[in-house]
Amino acid sequence: MNLTELNKVALAMVAPGRGILAADESSGTIKKRFDAIGVESTEDSRRDYREMLFRSAEGMKHISGVILYDETIWQKAKDGTPLVDLIKKAGAIPGIKVDEGTKPLPFSPDELVTVGLDKLADRLPKYYEQGARFAKWRAVIDIGKSIPSRNCIKANAHALARYAALCQEAQIVPIVEPEVLMDGDHDIDRCFTVTERVLHAVFGELFDARVQLEGIVLKPNMVIPGKKTAKRASVEEIAEKTVTVLKLCVPAAVPGIAFLSGGQSDEEATANLDAMNKIGNLPWKLTFSYGRALQHAPQTTWKGKTENVAAAQRAFSHRARMNGLAALGQWKADMEKKAA
Ligand code: 13P
Repeated sequence: MNLTELNKVALAMVAPGRGILAADESSGTIKKRFDAIGVESTEDSRRDYREMLFRSAEGMKHISGVILYDETIWQKAKDGTPLVDLIKKAGAIPGIKVDEGTKPLPFSPDELVTVGLDKLADRLPKYYEQGARFAKWRAVIDIGKSIPSRNCIKANAHALARYAALCQEAQIVPIVEPEVLMDGDHDIDRCFTVTERVLHAVFGELFDARVQLEGIVLKPNMVIPGKKTAKRASVEEIAEKTVTVLKLCVPAAVPGIAFLSGGQSDEEATANLDAMNKIGNLPWKLTFSYGRALQHAPQTTWKGKTENVAAAQRAFSHRARMNGLAALGQWKADMEKKAA
């Protein structure tokens, strides 16, 4: 393992004013997204859609890396150019989702564990050869009446650490993603407590697995109230509580933290990231690694129609630029209306 090189890649992934495009929806998830806009999900339609994003020159200026699904990393654009080459040409780093989804966790009702470790050591060199310089593994932790259990947190943290060590050994930067879901009816303080437990467990496991923190990127949830509670929180409270929990749990050796959007609206995800960066004086870079909050606008504009491609690319570029500004703490709400 060459840690200097891993650290360089990790720093490039969180370069000032840039963030990550999570375009790694599994075939099932992308079908759901396409169903919502009335597009049939086929190998070609998935390719056309993603090609459209990677060819958005303006938007890609704010994108440091793109997380791909296995199908996409091997796909070619309509003109025969490998999609990974489009990404590299746009100045971004190709990455790959390597987990194989979730399975029910035995004896922990309603809880899931992320799987995919078995053949991972064999798969990683092939992805490296294909151009991937970072990977992603997502663990999901749900909040409910008597969950998360200790068992669920431990199992997922352990798997994340095993994945991260395998990646580093294969000279690939692991994005370590423990996602505390925002689906429940919990308030912001419960999200804080659970996120703190989860992050402590994850960094404990990373230490035991001898993962080098200079060569990872953390992808956490923000500290935010569940979707089903009426107790909403202000942007300032979300920013303050998220930064506090990260300072309590994430060593300064970690080069950067790239948040998931997790079901927040496009503008919420931007405003919250911006408010955190406005706090300033942080030991790590704080940026975005958004899926939905970057793609909702282009998807609903595109609707699978060639004549909508230019407008969809503008919609994507706008969100990428807004989030790029938020990564610098330079976003303002009125910029949304002006440029949209
Ligand atoms: P969202 O931003 O839509 O939560 O997706 C990010 C991601 O990659 C989840 O694994």
